[in-house]
Amino acid sequence: MTNYTKLTPAIIIALQHIVGENNVLVDTQSLAAYSRDETEDLMYLPEVVVKPTTPKEIADILKIANKELITVTPRGAGTGLSGGALPVFGGIILSMERFNKILHIDERNLQATVEPGVINEVFQNAVKEKGLFYPPDPASKGSCFLGGNVAESSGGPKCVKYGTTKDYILNLEVVLPTGELIYTGANTLKNATGYNLTQLMVGSEGTLGIVTKIIVKLLPHPAYNLLMLVPFRNLDQACQAVSQTFRAGFTPSAMELMERDALLWVSKYVESHVIKIEDDIEAHLLIEVDGNDVEVLMKEMEAIAELMTKYNIADILFAESEAQKQELWKLRRRINEAVKSNAISKEQDTVVPRAELPALVKGIKQIGKNYHFKSVCYGHAGDGNLHIRIIKGELTDQQWEGDYIKKAISEIFILCKQLGGTISGEHGIGLIQQEYMSIVFSEKALSIQKEIKKVFDPNGILNPGKIFG
Ligand code: LAC
Ligand code: ZN
Repeated sequence: MTNYTKLTPAIIIALQHIVGENNVLVDTQSLAAYSRDETEDLMYLPEVVVKPTTPKEIADILKIANKELITVTPRGAGTGLSGGALPVFGGIILSMERFNKILHIDERNLQATVEPGVINEVFQNAVKEKGLFYPPDPASKGSCFLGGNVAESSGGPKCVKYGTTKDYILNLEVVLPTGELIYTGANTLKNATGYNLTQLMVGSEGTLGIVTKIIVKLLPHPAYNLLMLVPFRNLDQACQAVSQTFRAGFTPSAMELMERDALLWVSKYVESHVIKIEDDIEAHLLIEVDGNDVEVLMKEMEAIAELMTKYNIADILFAESEAQKQELWKLRRRINEAVKSNAISKEQDTVVPRAELPALVKGIKQIGKNYHFKSVCYGHAGDGNLHIRIIKGELTDQQWEGDYIKKAISEIFILCKQLGGTISGEHGIGLIQQEYMSIVFSEKALSIQKEIKKVFDPNGILNPGKIFG
């Protein structure tokens, strides 16, 4: 449905009554600031930006939008990589930035109740002060919101040992597009009560409701971690080493792959000299272990290092200080940014069972040869979750914008499916991957999802044009 209503002065006044004049933005500069996220160079202007602070305000906004058929696009920090927060039909941007309170850290139960506009890292640090741990750590953790993490079921390096956002959400307070408020579950670690609405909301990309409170599970914070960087002379071997590490009985708290160009470009981008990348190195694995007994960890790290020597590797760098660890993590986290600034590119968020990683990478490189593009691969190898930046390079604008590149991307995703994987591990479908959904879902499986959307949002006002188009 695209016959949405345009905002009128009367509706703007009604919105001002709900959230106060200062929290309704219509000036050109503000609209432009909310028209983008981190997805390629896409831009869609909203007609108005509204910044509520209570579920009641959101309910009142949604009631108007639902009655008048105005689109509402919820937005966190705008760090998304699939276009989930882009207002493709204009309408209202519902910015959750003022929902920025950590409401309660329940040390007795190892849980917390937070608002969706809390920055991931701010929350991690707050619970760490109490000896507690919230593991999901997207690369953008310094700026992304927990609400956005819930919307996209975000991951990050630690998820290989600890699980992704979905594994930490116990319960959600949600305002539905019709203005009603529900809780999806209970604040319990176990729950076998009815359909799992909590997990339905997680990863629903702001299409089913607006999350206004998040109840998460916490863990005790591990006391120590050790980090090493292993340079491989052969990309295929780096991929093989990943599943072998787990098969040998180790559970690293991070196992990240960085292809040669990824590390080269990011080192230049952040002006870091911490590593020298020899000419014959094709990829690196960044491996972390964590726990409470440092002796045990050292033995574990040594044993993993020993395992790595079975492959054609150069000297392993063992991080010696906190500063060096931070530097290595900074390099890893900023790859996406660095590659983006270095070349016109498109990001794909492939995921396969981890032992299929070598086949995935080989296939991607072959598809690149067939379609004449280079790619830079990096990401959460331990999870089988590989980010691929396809570089435009010599491709013409027509090839880059049209069916040519889409066909190549389809081939990558068909390969993922053949290997038992899927087309997004942690970035979501949003706007840019929806045309590939039929590769991984049957018509029936897709139609069930569309029916679910209708149950929550009969008028299709909430984040339309996402996931299914
Ligand atoms: C990363 C983001 C792009 O892992 O997911 O760097
Ligand atoms: Zn990632």
